[in-house]
Amino acid sequence: MFTIENLITISNIYKIYNKGENEVRALNGVSLSIGEGEFVAIVGQSGSGKSTLMNILGCLDTPTMGEYYLDGENVAGLSEKRLTQIRNCELGFVFQGFNLISGLDALENVELPLLYRGIPKSGRRALAQEALSKVGLTNRENHKPDQMSGGQQQRVAIARAIAAKPPIILADEPTGNLDSKSGAAVMRILNSLNEEGKTVVLITHDEKIAASAGRVVQIQDGQIVSQ
Ligand SMILES: Nc1ncnc2c1ncn2[C@@H]1O[C@H](COP(=O)(O)OP(=O)(O)O)[C@@H](O)[C@H]1O
Ligand SMILES: [Mg+2]
Repeated sequence: MFTIENLITISNIYKIYNKGENEVRALNGVSLSIGEGEFVAIVGQSGSGKSTLMNILGCLDTPTMGEYYLDGENVAGLSEKRLTQIRNCELGFVFQGFNLISGLDALENVELPLLYRGIPKSGRRALAQEALSKVGLTNRENHKPDQMSGGQQQRVAIARAIAAKPPIILADEPTGNLDSKSGAAVMRILNSLNEEGKTVVLITHDEKIAASAGRVVQIQDGQIVSQ
């Protein structure tokens, strides 16, 4: 029998800011499972808790309460060293702002995180070139960010996220700063990465963008209202 392994399981997650009088329940009891190879869009209005959830899924933040299992490992019990290893090897991050380094060209931007992973120079170059080719930017390798459009910069950021071949891509409003044509190009890339077998979690406030994912999960006031 075919079963999808749950790669990500969060169970009854709370994130509470300013506990006490002015408390904000950014996440108010969220449970969600994501199978290996799924493409899930988490959609909700501004302030609904999407980025908080993404930061927890990305091991960038910890919940106030609740459990998170990533590929069978209880994230709460992991050392900082292991968490860094997970962030570097298992997860690729894409954000709304492209966060490229202005003094570096596209190839150098994609290579930089590979340096931190200890990959030798020749390997870095080959992986970065492969990633830029996947996002259709081989002819922009030597362009600096200010010599590229927003859509191209976001594609460089995606190349940077996938260069080390992490199995999971987390994208928080990746099309938020883009016109609809460039946004559609980014979605095509995320879809093709998913077709290659990567698990993709896309966060967006835009229902039209969310509709191209395999599954849409709606979040409202820190709670999942449909999935
Ligand atoms: N560091 C923080 N301190 C206090 N409140 C926060 C903090 N971060 C987020 N919030 C609040 O948590 C809620 C969810 O925020 P967020 O996850 O950023 O929503 P979204 O990404 O859906 O716009 C919002 O009400 C926000 O104001
Ligand atoms: Mg957000």
